[in-house]
Amino acid sequence: MIYLNGSFVPIEDARVSVLDRGFIFGDGVYEVIPVYSHIPFRLVEHLRRLQKSLDGIQLKNPHTDTEWKKLIEQIIASNEGEDQSLYLHITRGVAPRNHAFPKEVVPTIFIMSSPLIVASKELIITGVSAITANDNRWSRCDIKAISLLPNVLLRQMASDSGATETLLLRDGFLSEGSASSIFIVKNNILLVPPKSNFTLPGITYDVVLELAVKYQMPYEITEISENDLHSSDEILLASSTKEIMPITFLDGKKVGSGKPGEVFAQLYQLYQDFKISIMRRESI
Ligand code: PDD
Repeated sequence: MIYLNGSFVPIEDARVSVLDRGFIFGDGVYEVIPVYSHIPFRLVEHLRRLQKSLDGIQLKNPHTDTEWKKLIEQIIASNEGEDQSLYLHITRGVAPRNHAFPKEVVPTIFIMSSPLIVASKELIITGVSAITANDNRWSRCDIKAISLLPNVLLRQMASDSGATETLLLRDGFLSEGSASSIFIVKNNILLVPPKSNFTLPGITYDVVLELAVKYQMPYEITEISENDLHSSDEILLASSTKEIMPITFLDGKKVGSGKPGEVFAQLYQLYQDFKISIMRRESI
């Protein structure tokens, strides 16, 4: 069951006009929210980022946080599975094709749930490979826009070379992955690029840094050069759907020993424990 513009319907029955500005221009924003044991993870933070994305495209939020929470609860309850991945999508709505905003238009609101497929045990043990590419996206990557063609093409480059993710370099410095935040480890220090208009402010990025602070793991928010990236001891990928994963090969070469490192192992465990503790707290 999905939610579309006020109704809960089976996904096969959902219809959107071909004049929807999401379809025509990619004029919309989205969120991806993981759900564990029927509880949305970091919902307040996801809704806050959604508001910022809407502000970034000058689209009025069609719902209050309370209304969003209710819709999200309903979608979770009407889909199977304890763990789900929610996709929430708002476009500027349906109007005759014209680049400028239409005067009177009702936004299109769509929420769907898919099974949450986090990294398998096997991948956590072996790690995944990544490639690097020039970050040729626009300069408002902080908006979680549905117009993802650059990210799609960049991710396809990884896929074509048998890799899992493409790490993006802008002017010789790491920004993020095509659909993930990227951390590196050098001399036991966890390093991550600062948030800027060239990266999406990742919810998992914040969780990882909170864990680093809480458990006194040395970390630094700093620019990471291409050289630093290629001489990392460890590279970690972080996102709502992949959680934290080790990247053990970059551009065909081993990262450190070519095996997931100790900082990854520690953060992975802390993330799993943290998830469980939050779920316990919220379900009381
Ligand atoms: N993508 N950077 C980009 C470009 C992303 O697309 C994502 C997530 C992230 C990580 O953000 P978060 O920790 O909030 O998931 C960073 C989602 C999962 C997607 O588009 O499917």
